[in-house]
Amino acid sequence: MKEQLEALEKRVRRAVEEADAVEKLAELKIGFLGKKGEITQLSRLMGSLSAEERPAMGQMVNQVKQQAEALIEEKMAYLQQQAQQLRLRAERIDITLPGRPVNTGARHIITSVQQQIEDIFIGLGYQVVEGPQVETDYYNFEAMNIPRDHPARDMQDSFYFSPQMLLRTHTSPVQARIMEKMQGKLPVKIISPGAVYRRDEDATHTPMFHQVEALLVDERVTFADLSGTLLAFARQMFGEERQIRMRPSYFPFTEPSAEVDISCFACGGEGCRLCKGSGWIEILGSGMVHPRVLEMSGYDPKHCSGFAFGMGIERIAMLKYGINDLRLLFDNDVRFLSSFWGGQK
Ligand code: DAH
Repeated sequence: MKEQLEALEKRVRRAVEEADAVEKLAELKIGFLGKKGEITQLSRLMGSLSAEERPAMGQMVNQVKQQAEALIEEKMAYLQQQAQQLRLRAERIDITLPGRPVNTGARHIITSVQQQIEDIFIGLGYQVVEGPQVETDYYNFEAMNIPRDHPARDMQDSFYFSPQMLLRTHTSPVQARIMEKMQGKLPVKIISPGAVYRRDEDATHTPMFHQVEALLVDERVTFADLSGTLLAFARQMFGEERQIRMRPSYFPFTEPSAEVDISCFACGGEGCRLCKGSGWIEILGSGMVHPRVLEMSGYDPKHCSGFAFGMGIERIAMLKYGINDLRLLFDNDVRFLSSFWGGQK
């Protein structure tokens, strides 16, 4: 039994030395020291020894057992430390590496111009309201005093869902919606931005574009109020030196109607390529709200009057930022869009 113990001790030593992973060492421990382990089994044989042999052999078995435990424990600590070092090395990050750039976007130039327009009118006491893009024939045409035979009503010019429903062709129907909602109360003082749709597509037209509508109804609103408001807007949008010019025009929902030009901001009115030599650039349509339009939406034209105007946001943006092709605003090429990002809020 002594030789057996000595041989076992050697095997333990070698096996522990050779074990190169925590799992292998754990297996060894079970193999030698577990319930059915070799050392455990040897100590069970003690019973078969004589009373004289027993103490010496018992001591030896214990010694081998303790030694095995100590060896395994020591190696275990070593292997665990090694494993941890490997893990730490794998997890190491180089904090001196340059960071990955985060590409942030910014508002589209159309949104930005819309917000600039909103800010100007908010400053003048207007409320910003929105109307639906899917509109009824009544609000889009009828309530805007647009006659049955008007070309805009043609299937060729508008996107219809049914005879009664279409994509709005302008933001003017919000005039009727807001007046109905206000139930005759004064003043009505709103602007309404949003998308509008027409069956048009070429270099200067897209099937969807954006407008801002303005409506002021109160007691004794005059054409002078309209021109003063437009001058204030033109100067805030295009520079303090701007002048405006109003040319007689026609819209079914206003009477009288006027198209509004601003003095050319490129040449100051001398005449250049931008203003095609005239010194003036058209920016919007306007007029005094037609009495029929007031009436249909519950306002009595004998006791109040109003002005309205509507402008295309794409047009304002193109003029202000010198964009020469409408399609650039819809292609969403980041190289184009990002050229405006520097100065934006
Ligand atoms: N709704 C017109 C359009 O889409 C623009 C317009 C002109 C609006 C005159 C108005 C206005 O409120 O008074 O072309």
